[in-house]
Amino acid sequence: MPQKTKKSTTSSKSPQKSENLKAVLRLRVPNSEAHYGGNLVSGSKVLEFFGDVATELLIRLDGDEGLFRAYDNVEFLAPVFGGDYLEIEGEITQIGNTSRKMAFTARKVIEPEPSVAPSAAKVLKAPIVVVKATGTCVTPKELQRKPL
Ligand SMILES: CC(C)(COP(=O)(O)OP(=O)(O)OC[C@H]1O[C@@H](n2cnc3c(N)ncnc32)[C@H](O)[C@@H]1OP(=O)(O)O)[C@@H](O)C(=O)NCCC(=O)NCCS
Repeated sequence: MPQKTKKSTTSSKSPQKSENLKAVLRLRVPNSEAHYGGNLVSGSKVLEFFGDVATELLIRLDGDEGLFRAYDNVEFLAPVFGGDYLEIEGEITQIGNTSRKMAFTARKVIEPEPSVAPSAAKVLKAPIVVVKATGTCVTPKELQRKPL
């Protein structure tokens, strides 16, 4: 059951504006992003996508893009190749004074099948989690245009 919205000056809160706490980005990683042998895409590219999702979350919560302060954990669990379709999900898990803790998951939902034909691709029966991360963004107090 959702918690009641309550103004507070404490330094750590559970998320309360539930409609603002999740964001999803779906995209195709272009072949031009392949950086390593075998069309492999750099892991840092997925972190850039997490940054885009984080920015949306901060705009929804604070009316400001904010800044990424730190990742405390990043796991690269499966390779990403040029031509893959990804679903990038982010969620605010804790709200501090200026800090916003977040959790991210990137899933591969479609992949090319170059061994079948250069243009062949398949929808995966079950999405594959390729990267997971947790981190903290900051929206300075004076830029928070939607105070909790
Ligand atoms: C983000 C930035 C504005 C924060 O500056 P700051 O306000 O002086 O940061 P502080 O160290 O005082 O910490 C701000 C908040 O983050 C939290 N924080 C600081 N370091 C942290 C870390 N390593 N992990 C988690 N939280 C952290 C603090 O506890 C504080 O939280 P609170 O306000 O809820 O109590 C500044 O560090 C910056 O400009 N960094 C560069 C950002 C950037 O370019 N990112 C990449 C592109 S988005």
